[in-house]
Amino acid sequence: MRVLVIGSGAREHALLLALQRDPEVTGLAVAPGNAGTARIAEQHDVDVTSNDDVVALARAVRADLVVVGPEVPLVLGVADALRAAGIVCFGPSRDAARIEGSKAFAKDVMAAAGVRTAASEIVDTPARLDAALDRFGPPAGDPAWVVKDDRLAAGKGVVVTADREVARAYAASLLEAGHPVLLESFLDGPEVSLFCVVDGRTVVPLLPAQDFKRAGDGDTGPNTGGMGAYAPVPWLPDDVYRDVVANIVEPVAAELVRRGSPFCGLLYAGLAITAKGPAVVEFNCRFGDPETQAVLALLESPLGQLLYAAGSGALAGFGELRWRAGAAVAVVLAAENYPGRPRVGDVVVGSEADGVLHAGTARRDDGAIVSSGGRVLSVVGTGADLSAARANAYDILRSIRLPGSHFRSDIALLASEGKIRV
Ligand code: GLY
Repeated sequence: MRVLVIGSGAREHALLLALQRDPEVTGLAVAPGNAGTARIAEQHDVDVTSNDDVVALARAVRADLVVVGPEVPLVLGVADALRAAGIVCFGPSRDAARIEGSKAFAKDVMAAAGVRTAASEIVDTPARLDAALDRFGPPAGDPAWVVKDDRLAAGKGVVVTADREVARAYAASLLEAGHPVLLESFLDGPEVSLFCVVDGRTVVPLLPAQDFKRAGDGDTGPNTGGMGAYAPVPWLPDDVYRDVVANIVEPVAAELVRRGSPFCGLLYAGLAITAKGPAVVEFNCRFGDPETQAVLALLESPLGQLLYAAGSGALAGFGELRWRAGAAVAVVLAAENYPGRPRVGDVVVGSEADGVLHAGTARRDDGAIVSSGGRVLSVVGTGADLSAARANAYDILRSIRLPGSHFRSDIALLASEGKIRV
């Protein structure tokens, strides 16, 4: 089986490494990729937001399966274009990708499926902002305002604050730029990401993971695309995990089938485990980053065969997934100033070690690997438990050099100490 992976992050590097372990995968291509993926897959510099270019590339590399990493090509309909060309694709149609691309659609689907989620309101004019802020946040009994950019924002367009002025200023800046704002009630409780492989009605859950969105230790600083993750999640009771699959993900998948937009791909449920039980923070239509780096490090089942089964509607016959015992921890090494405009072009030393996945990297003409984006590497450690996996990840990180770079030192720390409770 020849597989083409679309995307350029550490998530795609992790997908390629897991695909490479599948004995039925005979060839790997990636577009556009990065300096790390170039070592394991044919690299093609195509515009992945052009459906025509992706279909032409899939034909040129004779792909039996295309796996789409990022949400933007999916929301633009790349999976529809590939299927129309007779190519098996792991990724939802444009219609089904609205579960991430349109917050109003996602809320509507969840309401119809009877799924608990945050109360929300779209504000599209400054005149409505103050009254809407009054309906959310601490005065209404919640501990914080949650203000979201109502467009695809790669996880970065969210401000959670107990300070009304901060909430107002962020919302006003979005409105001034002509972007609608989504206000949500705050969901209290630790968060979990649950990835499910879906082929319409059949739902196959992967190991749960937790990611870390804030830039600084102790969940301080601005929101980022994700600074680290770990899997599995020892504090998540099995019955809650089963409850999420049976009463959240399966009903949402069934509701999408009922609406004529069956979801075929990776349905990512971002959940808060509240005192009243699990509630959905958001759905995404693709693998999460950096959780994928941790989850796939533990997958023993053949990923290519799993994703091909989903892409061709044969998931029901795939059987139970097998997982390596133990835990995995992914720590993101970010460039100076990330999540602001990152410093780029610096030489990265030590990035070819085992467990190092590339994201914002490029190979310079002289062969050196240089930084080319905000999140530069994901370093994945594994071990018998979270403590051992953490130690492994931070050991690898110590051998990497990138001027001005930063990383969080507390990824998976509280979970490894048994300090997270639901
Ligand atoms: N881990 C957050 C995301 O992938 O959106």
